[in-house]
Amino acid sequence: MARIPDAFIDDLLARADIVELIGARVPLKRQGKEYSARCPFHDERSPSFTVSPTKQFYHCFGCGAHGTALSFLMNYERLEFLDAVEELAKQVGVEVPRDTQQRNANPDAHDLYGVLDAASRFYVAQLAASDKAQRYLDRREVDADTRARFAIGYAPEGYNALRDALGGDARRMTLLERGGMMSKNDSGRVYDKFRDRVMFPILDRRGRTIGFGGRVLDKDASPKYLNSPETELFHKGRELYGLWQVRQAHNKIPRLIVVEGYMDVVALFQHGVDTAVATLGTATTADHAELLFRNAPDVYFCFDGDRAGRGAALKAMESVLPRMKDGRQAFFLFLPDGEDPDSIVRQEGRDGFEARLQQATPLSQFLFDSLGQDVNLNTLEGKGRLAERAKPLLAQIPDGAFGDLMKQRLTELTGVGARAPEPQQTQAPRARPGSAVAAPKRSLVRSAISVLLQQPALALQLQAPFRFAALRQPGIPLLVDLLQLVYQRPDIGTGALVEHFAGRDEHAALQKLALQSLPGDESTLRAEFTDVITQLDRLTLQQRLDELQAKQREGGLDDDDKHELRALLQSRFA
Ligand code: UTP
Ligand code: MN
Repeated sequence: MARIPDAFIDDLLARADIVELIGARVPLKRQGKEYSARCPFHDERSPSFTVSPTKQFYHCFGCGAHGTALSFLMNYERLEFLDAVEELAKQVGVEVPRDTQQRNANPDAHDLYGVLDAASRFYVAQLAASDKAQRYLDRREVDADTRARFAIGYAPEGYNALRDALGGDARRMTLLERGGMMSKNDSGRVYDKFRDRVMFPILDRRGRTIGFGGRVLDKDASPKYLNSPETELFHKGRELYGLWQVRQAHNKIPRLIVVEGYMDVVALFQHGVDTAVATLGTATTADHAELLFRNAPDVYFCFDGDRAGRGAALKAMESVLPRMKDGRQAFFLFLPDGEDPDSIVRQEGRDGFEARLQQATPLSQFLFDSLGQDVNLNTLEGKGRLAERAKPLLAQIPDGAFGDLMKQRLTELTGVGARAPEPQQTQAPRARPGSAVAAPKRSLVRSAISVLLQQPALALQLQAPFRFAALRQPGIPLLVDLLQLVYQRPDIGTGALVEHFAGRDEHAALQKLALQSLPGDESTLRAEFTDVITQLDRLTLQQRLDELQAKQREGGLDDDDKHELRALLQSRFA
C-alpha cells in the first residue's frame, strides 16, 4: 500500500483544529489554556480527559488514551489510518496526494467491490430458488430476519453458475478471479470455486463484501467450510466476521465476544446476543486484537473446552497482552466438550449464555493458571519456573496499572519480581514522582526534552552534529532522536512527535513530559533550551577531559591526545 508522506500528515495536523474536531463529538469545557471533558474512551463521572489546542493532542489521565486529531478519529470513529487521513483532509479542505490515496479510491478496486457485491446478491437470489438450501437453513433454525441481516445465500451446484451469471466478458472474468471466486484446473479451465454451499458473505468495516465462507449442506462432504483465498481486498488475519452487523446494532459497543464459527455468530445474534464476531478459521492475530479493542473496551474469547480450544486461547492471550492498555479487559470462556456457542444458545437461550459470560475467566487468572498448570508452587524450583515463563509475557503489557498489578501478582506467587530492567543508556529518563533525588545531570537532559516537546521547532536553531551526542547519559540518544526527527519534519507538532514513539519504551515517559505545562512564553523557553544545551555541551567536554586525564595518569597519551587535552583545558578556562 502506498505510504502517505510524513510531511503531508504533519501539515494536515498543523491545519486541523483538534478542539473543534473533538468538540464536535464530545462536549468540551474550557479550563485555562486547555479544554476538558468526560473521557469518551472509558466510563467516568468526573472529567479527566483534556485537549490541548497548543500542543494539538488529547490525553486522558484516567485511562491513558492519548494522541493527535488523527488518532482521535481512528479511535472514536473507529476508522483505519487511511480513512482517518481522508476524513481529516476533507474537513480541513486539502487533497490527499493522488498516488497515495487508498485502494478503494482506485476505479479498478471499485469494480472489484462491485463484482463481489453482485456475487452476494446472486447467492441470495439462488437461496430463494433452492428448496434444498432453504431446508438446510430451516433445519438449523436460522430465521428469515437473520438470513437477511447476514445476507446468507446459496451457491448452486455445477461448475458455471456464477461464471455464467456474472462473467459476461473478459474484464468481468478477471474481476471474478481477482476477487477469489474462481478456481482453475490443470488444463487452465476456470470454474466456480463455491459450489453447492450455503454462503456467508464477509463484510469489511464499511459494509462492503470482500469475501465469502461457504458451508457444505451434506455433512460428509469436505472441507466443511471453504473460505475465500487472500485477495487484494480480503486478508483473513485482519477481518472479523459479524463486526459490521454488531456495529450496525450499537452506537457504543459495550463488549465483543469472539467465537470460532460463522454459525456461532449467526445463532447468537438471532437469540439476542448481538455482539459476537468470529475469526475466519485462523488464530487470533495481533491485528484482530487491535481491531477488537478499538471497537470495545471488554473482549470475551469463547472457545471449546477441548485441548485445541485451550491452545487457541493461549494464542489469543499472546495476541492481546501487548494491547492491554488500562481500561481494557479480556476474558476467556470455555464451553463444555462437544458444545459450541451455537448449540449452547439454542439450549440455554440468551440468559444462559450471558450467565456463562459472567463466569468467564479474567485474563490475569487465565495467564497464571495456564502457566502454573504443571508447576508445583510449593517448591522453589516450581516458583522459579513460573517466574521464568511469566516474565516475557508480562513484559509485553503496556505501562500502566494493569501491568503493575500483574507483576505484583507474580511476586506474590513466586517471591520473584518481574520489574523491567532499570532504564539504560538508550532509554528516556522516566518522570517518576518519587525520584526527586535523581542526579542533577539527568534532569538536565530531561529539561531539554521537556522544552523540546513543548516547542519542537526549537530544534531547528541547533546545528548538527551535536557535541552533546557523545555524552554518556541516559536520555541523550532519545534527545538526539527527537532533534533529528524535527529536522526531518520541521512542521511536526507535539502530538505527532510523541506519537512517533508509540510502541517504544520511551513512549510513556514522553507522554508525561509532553503533558507538563512549562511556565513562560516562547522566548523564555527558547532561552531555557539554549542554556540547557550549552550546559550539556560543557558536560561533554568535561567527560572527554576526565577521560584524557585518566589516560594521562596511566601514562598513555599520544601526541594527538596531548593536543586535544591542551585545547580542552584552554577552552575550559577561556
Ligand atoms: P467448526 O467445525 O467448529 O464449525 O469450525 P461450526 O462453526 O460449528 O460449523 P457448523 O455448526 O458445523 O456449521 C469453526 C470455524 O472454523 C472454520 C470456519 O470459519 C468455521 O466456522 N473452518 C472449519 C474452516 O474454515 N474450514 C473447515 O473445514 C472447518
Ligand atoms: Mn457448530
